[in-house]
Amino acid sequence: MIHSLDDQVKLNNGMGMPGFGLGVWHVRGEDCVNSVTWALETGYRMIDTAEHYQNEDLVGEAVRRSGIPREQLFITTKLWNDDQGYDPALKAFDKSLKKIGLDYIDLYLIHWPIKGKYLDSWRALVRLYEEGRIRAIGVSNFHRHHLEALTNVSDVVPAVNQIELHPLLSQVPLREYCASRNILVEGYSPLGTGTELDHPVIRAIAGQHHKTAAQVILRWSIQNGVVTIPRSTKKEHVFSNADLFDFSLTEEDMVRIDGLNENKRNNTDPDTV
Ligand SMILES: NC(=O)c1ccc[n+]([C@@H]2O[C@H](COP(=O)([O-])OP(=O)(O)OC[C@H]3O[C@@H](n4cnc5c(N)ncnc54)[C@H](OP(=O)(O)O)[C@@H]3O)[C@@H](O)[C@H]2O)c1
Repeated sequence: MIHSLDDQVKLNNGMGMPGFGLGVWHVRGEDCVNSVTWALETGYRMIDTAEHYQNEDLVGEAVRRSGIPREQLFITTKLWNDDQGYDPALKAFDKSLKKIGLDYIDLYLIHWPIKGKYLDSWRALVRLYEEGRIRAIGVSNFHRHHLEALTNVSDVVPAVNQIELHPLLSQVPLREYCASRNILVEGYSPLGTGTELDHPVIRAIAGQHHKTAAQVILRWSIQNGVVTIPRSTKKEHVFSNADLFDFSLTEEDMVRIDGLNENKRNNTDPDTV
């Protein structure tokens, strides 16, 4: 479990990764540059973008403007579905790198397991990794059976599986499987895209700790050892979402939040994509 914004978790290739970061799905234009800038000013050191978000260039711009040494930052981007397959994936990586305008990407993920293609995409990512062009490679939205299938094409185990994860979708079986293979779980849509902030149990726990509902959910993620990447375009939310290290949820709070699971997805089931 991390104890500050600077704290890192260790990936299966020995590399460090911040345990907390900013997501920028649906964030465009000035909003994107601003949210990344506020996040970096607050002390966030990890940004999660994707080719599909159409803001890799804006993330790169905000990162460069920040003046923070590149090696202190951790930038993730993702291979989009239309670019899957061996050769298209190699080309898409070059395009993403160019758009971001940085010398390297820290973590490159296959965004979704596209049937008939994701194994070839994985072979391409392994090649890029072995050529030293990416510091770590991983996947997103992979069920256990997708992760198992990767072993047919490479011995390289994904460093990360980025999956939808919030109190109403706590993903315990997949978290346990990933832990058994030393694959780090990164939870996306941690706030249920905002829909879980009014949940009465979350609100009650927030009241007891004099914290916001978002802080309670994010703290729950962190105490569960899940890396989390909330999105916000509001300066006060970007700031308060990272203010998680001056309180702890009790065991009873954790059990209550764990008990909210309904396997409720807001996003697509990876088997149907
Ligand atoms: N790999 C994938 O397939 C995938 C899919 C989805 C998401 N992701 C990643 O995960 C990141 C986070 O997930 P998400 O964007 O789906 O949603 P999220 O972080 O669960 O929720 C974002 C929503 O919550 C609101 N919010 C944030 N902090 C708040 C606060 N303190 N108080 C009240 N409202 C607050 C935001 O509004 P305001 O802007 O008004 O604060 C926004 O509407 C994405 O941005 C993306 O990087 C990955």
